[in-house]
Amino acid sequence: MLADLIERQRGKLAVYGHPAEAIRVVVSPYRICPLGAHSDHQYGPVLGMAVNAHTFLSFVPADSSEVRITSENYSGELHFDLSAPEGLESSSTPWGRYAAAAAQALSDRLPASPRGIIGSVAGALPGGGLSSSASVLLSYLYALAEVNGLEMSPSELVSVALRAERDHVGVSVGILDHAAIVGSRKGHLLSIDTREVSWQALPLGSAAPDFRLLVVFTGISRNLAKTGYNQRVKQCFSAARRLATLTGKADAGHLGDFSEEEWRIHGDRLPPEEQRRARHFYGERSRVERGIELWKEGDLETFGRLMNASCESSISNYQTGSKELISLQNILVDTPGIYGARFSGAGFGGCSIALVATDEAEQIRSHVEHTFKSTFPQHAGRARAFLVESDDGVRIV
Ligand code: GLA
Repeated sequence: MLADLIERQRGKLAVYGHPAEAIRVVVSPYRICPLGAHSDHQYGPVLGMAVNAHTFLSFVPADSSEVRITSENYSGELHFDLSAPEGLESSSTPWGRYAAAAAQALSDRLPASPRGIIGSVAGALPGGGLSSSASVLLSYLYALAEVNGLEMSPSELVSVALRAERDHVGVSVGILDHAAIVGSRKGHLLSIDTREVSWQALPLGSAAPDFRLLVVFTGISRNLAKTGYNQRVKQCFSAARRLATLTGKADAGHLGDFSEEEWRIHGDRLPPEEQRRARHFYGERSRVERGIELWKEGDLETFGRLMNASCESSISNYQTGSKELISLQNILVDTPGIYGARFSGAGFGGCSIALVATDEAEQIRSHVEHTFKSTFPQHAGRARAFLVESDDGVRIV
């Protein structure tokens, strides 16, 4: 199945006469985050996992510094010159801003006469919740690095991707998406240290039942830059600055710089909104720590309950969740056989994920899809539920 999709993508360039052996394909997975929501920009621990839904970018090296890309999902052709990265945002198509951001973030590493790519990109799913944007960004970074002979370690790649999103796309994200897409290993959960930009793949304890991941797309896509995401991040930084004053820790700048005890002693002196954001952060931090142990023990039932608690905190403390997402969460929590569920990604639109036992997975999928569509008939055309599994991180084939 995956091999067919890769060959199909290769075929997109082959029709222009490029020899098959010269065409490379970047296979860049989407990701989920079962625990650790909105913690990555505050140096909190997070858990991520790549799943088997992908962006595919087939490409050949260009003869010059030009980049030309067509998309299966959007019309128009993306065209720019890699040797003139200034002003790229305005010259590219709206869907091309991630390619432009990749080129800009790489610009100080590219050779004096950089080589562009001729490519064709296809994404499996609409944007919202599974980090299709980071998945596509990493495909461009991989392809551009490859044709220009840039050797980058996985953590360097994640740092360049982060710069691209923060400086050129304009969202104050952390490394969750990029680290999960780069570092994941099939069958493992990725424990990510967002301060050190490092990670560890955790095998699932042998006592665990066989499980699948249910993804439920509400039918509503969203562009993170246009949500309340950046404002929440600012509130977290403001809370951290206040805690720094209260604790006398002049160098502290992130919520992750404070201990549980410092939060307990000083937390109630924060303004109400900032206190809620911080409460979410410290709750997530302990859920991630506990979640790591439960995963290694194979206790998916208790792990799932932590996911439910994490989502409750996202709603009440971090104040994310559209009416569709909150209603979907209620449907998921009320469905027998689901270990746990939460919003996927930022929780402003998009989708939710749930852990389900393999032998009941299809029945649960169809029940949840039917219930959600009957609750929101206006989204029935686009909403859907589907099952995925864990996957390896981004690669070139
Ligand atoms: C989005 C961002 C991530 C992370 C999540 C919430 O997906 O891109 O960096 O903050 O939201 O956990």
